[in-house]
Amino acid sequence: MNYEPFRIKSVEPIRRSSLEQRKKLIEAAGFNLFLVEADDVVIDLLTDSGTGAMSSEQWAAMMRSDESYAGSPSFRRFSDSVQAITTFKHVIPTHQGRAAEHILFSVMCRKGDVVPNNMHFDTTRPNCEFTGAEAVDLPIPEALKPACQHPFKGNMDTVRLSQLIERVGFQRIPLVMITVTNNGGGGQPVSMANIKAVKEICSRHKIPLYLDACRFAENAYFIKLRESGYAVKTPREIAQEMFRQADGCTMSAKKDGLANIGGFLCTNDDSKALLAKNLLILKEGYPTYGGLAGRELDAIAVGLNEALEEDYLEYRIGLTAYLGNRIADAGIPIVQPPGGHAIYIDARAFLPHIPPTQFPGSALAAELYIEGGIRSFEMGTLVFGKCDSEGVEHPGPMDLLRMAIPRRVYTQSHIEHVIDTIAKVWRRRDQIRGLELIYQAPTLRHFTARFRRAGVSAHA
Ligand code: F0G
Repeated sequence: MNYEPFRIKSVEPIRRSSLEQRKKLIEAAGFNLFLVEADDVVIDLLTDSGTGAMSSEQWAAMMRSDESYAGSPSFRRFSDSVQAITTFKHVIPTHQGRAAEHILFSVMCRKGDVVPNNMHFDTTRPNCEFTGAEAVDLPIPEALKPACQHPFKGNMDTVRLSQLIERVGFQRIPLVMITVTNNGGGGQPVSMANIKAVKEICSRHKIPLYLDACRFAENAYFIKLRESGYAVKTPREIAQEMFRQADGCTMSAKKDGLANIGGFLCTNDDSKALLAKNLLILKEGYPTYGGLAGRELDAIAVGLNEALEEDYLEYRIGLTAYLGNRIADAGIPIVQPPGGHAIYIDARAFLPHIPPTQFPGSALAAELYIEGGIRSFEMGTLVFGKCDSEGVEHPGPMDLLRMAIPRRVYTQSHIEHVIDTIAKVWRRRDQIRGLELIYQAPTLRHFTARFRRAGVSAHA
């Protein structure tokens, strides 16, 4: 298939801007793309979260929805749809993924506990550590080498998992999590064999396994494409098999729920479900709406099924791979192989003359914006590094620039514009300068940080 498997019924204009205008706009935003207005962006690849286009069936379902406080049929449709895919006993709606994480960790973890994950996402880690537990990442070694090819680079390192359990004791590990696909590590999938191997270790120690399932459909499709024995199965059957290995999941429906807002927590544990529902009433809402409108529950009920359609997944994974392969063919260093929802440029390799302490990822993000109005997201030193009490900057493990593709929003010609823009910046990469921080918040600094170009005084 070489065409988008949908027609476009409703359109939004993209505002054109000039290079000169964008130079001024990015400077005014302190070289931080979070501080640029969305209508000053040409192609917005900041995130694939909540930015997708809904289908006519989803809009129709929203019109049929019911806004009753308790026992709404919208909740029943939502819950049936989630259960048909995940097979979990309890389905607890939340307003988005991080709320599900907060509730899960609150009912599972205590101070001194340890929670292993292939890689905690940047909301998962603080929500876990908020309870006093320690969040430990156990990716396979290949995950930290951007150029390294591996079909399932999202896998958890099962040897290190066993060693960790041995070292701290199973009593201190209230759950193990696997993030599908691994967003922190390049949108890379986890194999069914790895999920089963982790489950086997967990079962031996009676530790429950939860999936951070945000991109479960994309993960299922990679298994179909790459893992032996799965080519004949449907993405839905593969997703069901993935969920059957787990005792529960957290989900942001803003990703593979194809919705603009929403999430859920699932579990097979009756007593934890009761605790979670009590906390839900306190924080999110009654258990049959959990902080969502009935229409949003209905949009998710339909979206979860559409995300598993094979035509859609072929287009989705194909478009991401098209972007990744085209720029890699031009010599641009990316996390290999192309992931599901995003392409990650290795900014340290793209701009080797800029030290990590001068934020090569953010510098590259600013140039892609100036050149072609592309908004991307630095996942490097600004997000994962730290400035200590003496003001010394400690770089993150990698300096990646993520270009996340919203679902069903951009066509291949939009992606051609992205490829063209990156190629132009690549040709003048030697002239790109690093950035110096002039403001940073004490936590989650990437949202509000402000920079100036390195080597330019404050009054220049
Ligand atoms: N887990 C993963 C793997 C995620 O990628 C996200 C969100 C969440 C949990 C939290 O879900 O946003 O609904 O609260 N990722 C977005 C992103 C924000 O841009 O990657 P949420």
